[in-house]
Amino acid sequence: MKTWLTGMACAVLAGCAVQPTTGDANFQGLGGKAGIHDIVATLVPLVLADPRIKESFTDIDMNKVALRLEEQVCVLSGGPCTYHGKDMVLIHDGLNITNAQFNALAEDLQIAMERRGVPSRFQNKLIARLAPMQRDIVTK
Ligand code: HEM
Repeated sequence: MKTWLTGMACAVLAGCAVQPTTGDANFQGLGGKAGIHDIVATLVPLVLADPRIKESFTDIDMNKVALRLEEQVCVLSGGPCTYHGKDMVLIHDGLNITNAQFNALAEDLQIAMERRGVPSRFQNKLIARLAPMQRDIVTK
């Protein structure tokens, strides 16, 4: 019954057979590995200039954070990467991060994606995939 209904919908709507099924549409939407590299490279100076969060990154190796963030975004978007960084709870433990600071970073990320020309539906998808991390990162 379900198959029949799906078949009917495809017949009516047309084009169902050519829908992409690779699962990495979000990764491609961010521009693949090169695009994600550029997004993070745009994000880092925004974070370091953002009065709401910059102090948290004093004396932090931002090259390393950027590399891990690239890996993480790649994995979250369905790309062919492995995250080699620490667990989100462990790395942010003791930093006393607030919801407002989490939102500030998400906002900076959205600005970075906008500047890199990422279509808004892919921006929103990434933000939605990062949102559940809030409970691991925010401790204050
Ligand atoms: C969407 C939100 C966030 C994500 C996805 C994220 C992700 C990451 C990643 C992947 C790392 C590197 C882990 C490693 O080196 O193994 C990291 C480190 C770090 N994050 Fe975040 N983070 C987020 C929000 C924040 C916020 C809001 C702050 C502070 C305002 C923050 C402060 C830091 C600091 C200071 C480090 C370096 C810690 C260290 O090397 O000891 N993060 N984060």
